[in-house]
Amino acid sequence: MAGPVTRRRFLAASAAGAGSALLGSALFPSDAWGAMPRVRRNVGGMNAYDPILTAYGRAIQAMQALPATNPLSWAYQAAIHGTLLGSPQVAWNTCQHGNYFFWSWHRMYLYWFERIIRKMCGDPCWTLPYWAWDSPTERQIPAPFRDSSSPLYTANRSATMNGGGSLPATDVSYASSFSQTNFTTASLIFQGTPHGAVHVDVGGWMGSVPTAAQDPIFYLHHANCDRLWDLWLAQGASWVDPLTDNTWKTTPFTFFNKSGAQVTMTGCDVLRAAQQLRYVYEGEPAQVDEYCLKFKPPGSLCKKCC
Ligand code: C2O
Repeated sequence: MAGPVTRRRFLAASAAGAGSALLGSALFPSDAWGAMPRVRRNVGGMNAYDPILTAYGRAIQAMQALPATNPLSWAYQAAIHGTLLGSPQVAWNTCQHGNYFFWSWHRMYLYWFERIIRKMCGDPCWTLPYWAWDSPTERQIPAPFRDSSSPLYTANRSATMNGGGSLPATDVSYASSFSQTNFTTASLIFQGTPHGAVHVDVGGWMGSVPTAAQDPIFYLHHANCDRLWDLWLAQGASWVDPLTDNTWKTTPFTFFNKSGAQVTMTGCDVLRAAQQLRYVYEGEPAQVDEYCLKFKPPGSLCKKCC
């Protein structure tokens, strides 16, 4: 992309609709039940030889070797978020910004992406790490992503940030979003700052919606945004997801499973990360459990995994 990228431009570049034309029944990830939640770790505690990062690099290389028409390829996965490529395939350019599907759509996207990475790296226990840029000690792009010999690196970033520059404190603050109890208001503010501000600061591919998900750091940035959704909700009883809004709860979005088959998911499928999607974030407080159904399912049998 030529020219400076503004935060407004990042957000304005995606006006994707709510996916009303998508078909298919909501698929509940059956193998998620009955397993203990896995931990998505803070990348700040990892060096370049951490098995999570070496496996991620391995998966990226394997995915980059596949053609863009293969749903498991790096290009296809990034294009689900956004792409400049012509002849759009199923689910391309479906990222949700500028509306209240932002947090839920990106949670779904990461969920299926993580499962594809598990397959492509050969580690069924792999979890997506998060980049906690809100912590004063993690304002730089994590070092393993700045090593030009690594598959985690791309030159398509701001040279300053690739050179070890730090995100400005004002760009990573979620205080104004978190002060809002209304879900839509809070998530719209969050989409601008910190979310969009960090995109623009990292720059290059990350600075614009149609290219952002080509950068391996994208998914760690969004894992942090996803963790912060949990934290927003955990502030107290006044902070709630839009459970009275049927459109938010039931609009289906399309993704691909690790076999390359189409799947759909809705807001109701992603309310409780630990229970429904089987992950927690390292160091987060107990997740708030919300339910679309009037009754709560009985406690599931836990079996140990990973
Ligand atoms: Cu869908 Cu951070 O963008």
